[in-house]
Amino acid sequence: MSNPDADVSTQVRPGSGAMFDAIAPRYDLLNRLMSLGLDSRWRRRAVDALQAPAGANILDVAAGTLDVSLEVVARVHNAAVTALDPSPQMLAYGERKAGEQGVDTQISTIVGDACALEFADNTFDGAVVSFGIRNIPDRPLALREMVRVCKPGSRIVVLELTEPRTGLLAPLARMHVHHLVPRLGALLSGQREYRYLQRSIAAFPPPAEFVEMMAEAGLQQTRCERLSLGAVHLFVGVVPN
Ligand SMILES: C[S@@+](CC[C@H](N)C(=O)[O-])C[C@H]1O[C@@H](n2cnc3c(N)ncnc32)[C@H](O)[C@@H]1O
Repeated sequence: MSNPDADVSTQVRPGSGAMFDAIAPRYDLLNRLMSLGLDSRWRRRAVDALQAPAGANILDVAAGTLDVSLEVVARVHNAAVTALDPSPQMLAYGERKAGEQGVDTQISTIVGDACALEFADNTFDGAVVSFGIRNIPDRPLALREMVRVCKPGSRIVVLELTEPRTGLLAPLARMHVHHLVPRLGALLSGQREYRYLQRSIAAFPPPAEFVEMMAEAGLQQTRCERLSLGAVHLFVGVVPN
């Protein structure tokens, strides 16, 4: 009998929607455990950084199981969210959560690719990508697409896991990323793809370089904030007039 894990890993691009389809049932639990319960706090910081006004129309890119979308509707009065992701399974789990919380009318999901957004220019009052930009093959294109579909003056916020490089506790944080995260992922999910998480974090550009990439995509006032010993960074830019 063939090993289903091996089948998935040979046919599917690491980080793609198809890979996340396979992980979807365990994704939320893995997230909580691997982040030591800090992931909800990071997402709240990201939503606050959007500085979205009441009634805002927000795009959640690489929305996965909708944790950020749910945070937007919880924190921004009368917000409407469009949650985009190439993984129908991740979105289906999210839709279930939105239904249980009674906010499904405020969140609409769409299967799609961050590099080819099917929205008109100037549609949204802000866009957020949480733990998703690492998985998108052409990051500059995805950033330009977000700039295109967001209104002038609105904010684009990117939350991403990063390799902790500086500070006294950086070796501890690196040990967490390189040893605990892949082992826990492999153990609980039964998917070798969680090793991809470790590799992709190490391959993500240093924060200053990503800030530069955001500026090159046309964003203004670009900046980043180091969270949790540098294991996570919050990047923010403003869409120009
Ligand atoms: C680690 S999950 C993050 C989910 C969610 N934003 C969160 O905070 O938990 C990464 C997501 O990126 C999505 N993804 C992969 N390639 C993508 C692409 N080209 N465009 C948009 N999303 C993509 C995956 O399907 C997956 O749901």
